Amino acid sequence: MGDPSVPIEESPDEGWVTGLTGAPAPEVRKVLAEAEADREFWDEVMRAHCGGGRESYAQIRAPFELYAMARLLKPRHVVEVGVSSGVSSSAFLRAIQRNGTGVLHSIDLPTPQKGARFDAGTDSPVALPPGHRSGWAVPPSVRAGWDLRIGSSRDLLPPLVGELPEIGIFLHDSLHTFEHATFEFTTVAPKVPVGGVVVADNCNWLDHALEAFAPRLGGTVRFRRGFDLGGVRRTSPSP
Ligand SMILES: C[S@@+](CC[C@H](N)C(=O)[O-])C[C@H]1O[C@@H](n2cnc3c(N)ncnc32)[C@H](O)[C@@H]1O
Repeated sequence: MGDPSVPIEESPDEGWVTGLTGAPAPEVRKVLAEAEADREFWDEVMRAHCGGGRESYAQIRAPFELYAMARLLKPRHVVEVGVSSGVSSSAFLRAIQRNGTGVLHSIDLPTPQKGARFDAGTDSPVALPPGHRSGWAVPPSVRAGWDLRIGSSRDLLPPLVGELPEIGIFLHDSLHTFEHATFEFTTVAPKVPVGGVVVADNCNWLDHALEAFAPRLGGTVRFRRGFDLGGVRRTSPSP
């Protein structure tokens, strides 16, 4: 088991959150400080995460910023594709719990580990350890009301979007190809309201899919400091 005191994130990017949410800097600072002070919660996530047998599951690198976005925008519905151990899910669910309103809808098609032991040569860094389910690191205290759906976003995202009145935050963190990311972005776009945000991890692998999609929201891509984690804020209404 790894060291559960390993910090889950260092030095959140306040400017990225300010740019994507339009919230005043002091408010952004306040909710980021709230996330950083939530040590017990994040230690619990890390303990469960490391209990999967290794320290890294290719999780989101900026969970505090996701938490802050959800605290500031107070979305009625957050949708994410790509759960794995559940670091991004934990951030959204903790924010929703503190908001006292909202639902996280997550879709994951798990990639199983091939054998009992992780093999860095043949296993994907997102591989699900034997005996574990998608989202295994999400603390029980925030699971109530979590809508977790297992399968490919190809099959599950269109009907989910059809069920929802709006999607205040969407996170793409699944199959990182131009074609697949574009499919997810265009599927959710009609339900993203003005002020809503679309975020994508590993943009360097997406062949500029987020940049190509951004004009549809009337926005431009803002990148998190130091990472290829991008986001777009909707500024013009859906046609
Ligand atoms: C990088 S991990 C997600 C990490 C997670 N967001 C976190 O912060 O812990 C990507 C996940 O997406 C899953 N995935 C891959 N293709 C998918 C698809 N077409 N639909 C849904 N999930 C998919 C992978 O198996 C894996 O569980």
